[in-house]
Amino acid sequence: MKVLLTGGSGQVGQEIIKFKPKKVDLIYPDRKQLDLANYESCKKIFRENRPDWVINCGAYTAVDDAEKEFSICKKINSYAPKAFTEAINEINGNLLQLSTDYVFDGKQNYPYKENQKKNPLSKYGLSKSLGEELIKKNIKNIKNATILRTSWVISPRGKNFILTMLKLHSERKYIDVVSDQIGSPTSAADLGKVCWEIIKFKHKKNLPFIMHWCDEGMASWFDIADAIGDIAKELKIIEKKAKINPINSTEYLTLAKRPKYSVLDTLNTVKLLDIKPINWKENLRKILIEYQQNKNIILS
Ligand SMILES: NC(=O)c1ccc[n+]([C@@H]2O[C@H](COP(=O)([O-])OP(=O)(O)OC[C@H]3O[C@@H](n4cnc5c(N)ncnc54)[C@H](OP(=O)(O)O)[C@@H]3O)[C@@H](O)[C@H]2O)c1
Repeated sequence: MKVLLTGGSGQVGQEIIKFKPKKVDLIYPDRKQLDLANYESCKKIFRENRPDWVINCGAYTAVDDAEKEFSICKKINSYAPKAFTEAINEINGNLLQLSTDYVFDGKQNYPYKENQKKNPLSKYGLSKSLGEELIKKNIKNIKNATILRTSWVISPRGKNFILTMLKLHSERKYIDVVSDQIGSPTSAADLGKVCWEIIKFKHKKNLPFIMHWCDEGMASWFDIADAIGDIAKELKIIEKKAKINPINSTEYLTLAKRPKYSVLDTLNTVKLLDIKPINWKENLRKILIEYQQNKNIILS
């Protein structure tokens, strides 16, 4: 089986590469070989390679910058998925599109189901939501596409909250962290494995168009920062833990609005794939251990 992966250098993409099943021929062009903002290039690379699957993991993920750069963000997050959809219609492939909890507005206080009404608060969320809509509208056979929504991705690599917090714990006595946004952290590694499970079982189990995946449990950014400090100190990654001050979103102004609550309901995915999500704190520990073991590699 041939699979074309976009965003192979990203947090999730790297894990998808790491967990590639032996028999899969995986192609993962970098940004120089495939610019997702270039609609025709997305079609061209598909036509040239004729993969059985596209995992479209590449995205414009700078949530705040997207407020100022909506045009380029939309090209990457909305129109690249459309281009892949059209190419798939021509050659009969399949699409696994990564999407986000930020398609929801966070106004409810129980986990979001796959079919619930979307109402993104940010341009990033809007661009990802539009990407979903364009796939749904344009795909000839809905059985050939899956949207996998996830949330708050954590990994030992890339630009992410864990690495930022480790630095702040080492440098500061106090850190202000938002405590009124609740979501579910998601291990990039477990998400990568789920992507392969979806590809394996999509047709055998007739998997649905929209699926949700995140780690078990929920947390605020404050909870995660606090847990990073505790575990990293215990593992001797940092010498001291800073005191974390919980603050409201109103005290930490960002260009983009974020949902107050964006926990995804994963029950369907758990049942269909027969895999259980691991608690986010357990996964955080694994990630910090991996970070510790590969520190020099990760930082180079
Ligand atoms: N991170 C999260 O918390 C989160 C939460 C929910 C959903 N998601 C979704 O999960 C997926 C993976 O996210 P991630 O955390 O792995 O993102 P990431 O670490 O920010 O990586 C983004 C990837 O997209 C590539 N990319 C961006 N613009 C491109 C372009 N114009 N042409 C080609 N490649 C381009 C980047 O390449 P370069 O290395 O060259 O920049 C990188 O490989 C995305 O679809 C995202 O929307 C993420």
